[in-house]
Amino acid sequence: MLIRFTGVSHHYAGSTTPVVRDLDLSLTEDRIGVIGANGSGKSTFARMLNGLIVPSQGTVTINGLETAGDGREVRRQVGFCFTDPDSQIVMPTVAEDVAFGLRRRGLSKAEIASRVTAILTAHGLQGYEEHPAHLLSAGQKQMLALSSILVTDPEILVMDEPTTLLDLRNTRRVVAAINAMRQNVILVTHHLDLLADFERVLVFDESRLVFDGLPDKAIEHYLGLME
Ligand SMILES: Nc1ncnc2c1ncn2[C@@H]1O[C@H](COP(=O)(O)OP(=O)(O)OP(=O)(O)O)[C@@H](O)[C@H]1O
Ligand SMILES: [Mg+2]
Repeated sequence: MLIRFTGVSHHYAGSTTPVVRDLDLSLTEDRIGVIGANGSGKSTFARMLNGLIVPSQGTVTINGLETAGDGREVRRQVGFCFTDPDSQIVMPTVAEDVAFGLRRRGLSKAEIASRVTAILTAHGLQGYEEHPAHLLSAGQKQMLALSSILVTDPEILVMDEPTTLLDLRNTRRVVAAINAMRQNVILVTHHLDLLADFERVLVFDESRLVFDGLPDKAIEHYLGLME
């Protein structure tokens, strides 16, 4: 994975105040955390990683593809997991939701069914294939959302506070899922303890990247800001 931000600033339509400023950054590590106060620009940053947001200044490239021009291919390589799984569950049943991401790939019905079952089993949802997706618990929905993303096998996974709605058990499941993934993971979170084993943590404050380093030091810096 090689992600590059070059001269990136972003302001939303209708405003001239940047919510992300002057970002120059290369990201290559397997596990990268993103922390910072509410409104500091973390979600805006995260959404720039898969072209959901194209910066108003500067460029973001993912493995050489610029998000501004190659959004489709970028989104094939970068999966995005939202805080609220309801916003990404699109089909009536659990199995259909997972299979949705595999459409138009020319796979046989048997191949699709076997991939769906495998990914659901890996995320604690075996036996729920025919279950109405909207009737799952919040934690199960998050595991479904994760399954539906991972079944498409993106190279990179961006997660924006995926554990915020979860109890401790499901938080641990998500953490275990992250640890088991072959994907590069970029995790935005307010749960600082999830980042202990990460290779790199970015701290945002008032629209700027104010610290970039190892988890212990980054958390110390963030706690200092919160004083
Ligand atoms: N769609 C939007 N239109 C206009 N302003 C926005 C929009 N989304 C976010 N903002 C503003 O951009 C700034 C940064 O928001 P962002 O969502 O990136 O923060 P965050 O660090 O993710 O915060 P939180 O921890 O609360 O999720 C905030 O001031 C917010 O009000
Ligand atoms: Mg946010």
